[in-house]
Amino acid sequence: MVERYVMSIDQGTNSTRCILFDHHGRLVSVAQREHRQHFPRPGWVEHDVVEIWRNLLRVVPEALAAGEVGPDEVAAIGIANQRETTVLWERRTGAPLGRAIVWQDTRTASLVEELRIRPGDGFFLERCGLPPSTYFSALRIRWLFDHVKGLEERARDGEVLFGTMESWLIWNLTGGADGGLHITDATNASRTMLMNIRSLAWDDELLAFFGVPRCMLPEIRSPAESYGEAGAALPGVRITAALGDQQAALFGQTCFSPGEAKCTYGTGSFLLLNTGTDLVRSHHGLLTTIAYKIGDEPTVYALEGSIAVTGSLVQWFRDRLGLISSAPEIETLARTVEDNGGCYIVPAFSGLFAPRWRSDARGVVVGLTSYITKGHLARAVLEATGWQTREVVDAMNADSSVPLRELKVDGGMTSDNLLMQFVADVLDVPVVRPMVAETVSLGAAYAAGLAAGYWPDLEVLRHNWHRAAQWLPDMDPARRVSEYENWQRAVERSLGWIR
Ligand code: G3P
Repeated sequence: MVERYVMSIDQGTNSTRCILFDHHGRLVSVAQREHRQHFPRPGWVEHDVVEIWRNLLRVVPEALAAGEVGPDEVAAIGIANQRETTVLWERRTGAPLGRAIVWQDTRTASLVEELRIRPGDGFFLERCGLPPSTYFSALRIRWLFDHVKGLEERARDGEVLFGTMESWLIWNLTGGADGGLHITDATNASRTMLMNIRSLAWDDELLAFFGVPRCMLPEIRSPAESYGEAGAALPGVRITAALGDQQAALFGQTCFSPGEAKCTYGTGSFLLLNTGTDLVRSHHGLLTTIAYKIGDEPTVYALEGSIAVTGSLVQWFRDRLGLISSAPEIETLARTVEDNGGCYIVPAFSGLFAPRWRSDARGVVVGLTSYITKGHLARAVLEATGWQTREVVDAMNADSSVPLRELKVDGGMTSDNLLMQFVADVLDVPVVRPMVAETVSLGAAYAAGLAAGYWPDLEVLRHNWHRAAQWLPDMDPARRVSEYENWQRAVERSLGWIR
């Protein structure tokens, strides 16, 4: 039987998806299952990793069935995943030690404040390219050691394993407690605060600083190379790629040249700029991260502006406030009014990420008067995504010699025309969306297909990119300036709320 498809598994913040792609990068079939979000305390966000693992075992056959594809027609599997989310499990049994602590969780905020004074931002930025933030995994491991009795000792004795979601899934796919591979890839490892951004190895000083024993860490591998057979889900088919989902989207958008950038609008939004094989340090609040690395080829780096809350603000509006019953309705509701009526929402639910990195910020709604309707609030929700993108693009332009001339976008929120027009308006550059909006999955498939020899090189992949939609800026410049000032005044009010 000729192998005709590449399978991609996207384990995201809200759901686990399995998609099959063909040689032209066209989507053949998809299966998806959501998992529950646990919010046990204010600021805490957790996932049940057994639920996620079971979801994966279901979506794989579902996607095959939907596409009428046999397992022997799958050339390779690529995995993309929510990054930074921290999973600990028992080496001997494979049982998770509690729920995963999700990247949005802010329970480590007081630890971050301590790190800011001792030993200073430079120490971390120099080694791992990241500033101290509740966002990254190492702080969560430390927090767990400090709060779960006996855990640190058990980890030192080699009884406990750490991983981000791809590690957990690959370990289970390749045999679990019965000889599963304990590995990660350099893109995911670059989000832990434990990997040296130059050597792509675990950094002794960072391990010592956080008190993390090396024996609990996975082996760091290239994001695109053959790891092992996915026996538990698809016997005989090899997993040949694993990437953080945002790096996967950069790859899926074929941003292979320095200067090319994309922004993915999902739960959060993540703007990544390819900086080539140069490791660029940001002076304006962006992260230095690994973009990708194909096998033994040189490492490609990126600058990243991470925004914690965008799509999840729409979810909050839907699920917690009940003002809409489905996410797409936000656009309809926002269109019932001309403008935001003077109302701004700063969704600092997890503090503020790029470019401010303020874990002491919390969400605010400002400009309320009795004139404000739910339509105005809906506008303010969407506009918050636009303004947060603007802050990140300003930082990126300040860091790089060439200003951004066009923004490639993808992700669920890009189906919202009002929002995409607003993004083009506030950035004052065209915004373009490709035909395949599932770029996270596509990127993981591309990386897996390259490593498996299904696609020969990056050029072939470039030819698969086709523009589906474009939004051109159309906002009065004076209005852009005054609205941006209002937004920034609103942000000022969110800072320092947590003491
Ligand atoms: O860094 C967090 C990011 O990887 C989450 O992405 O799309 O799963 O919300 P998403």
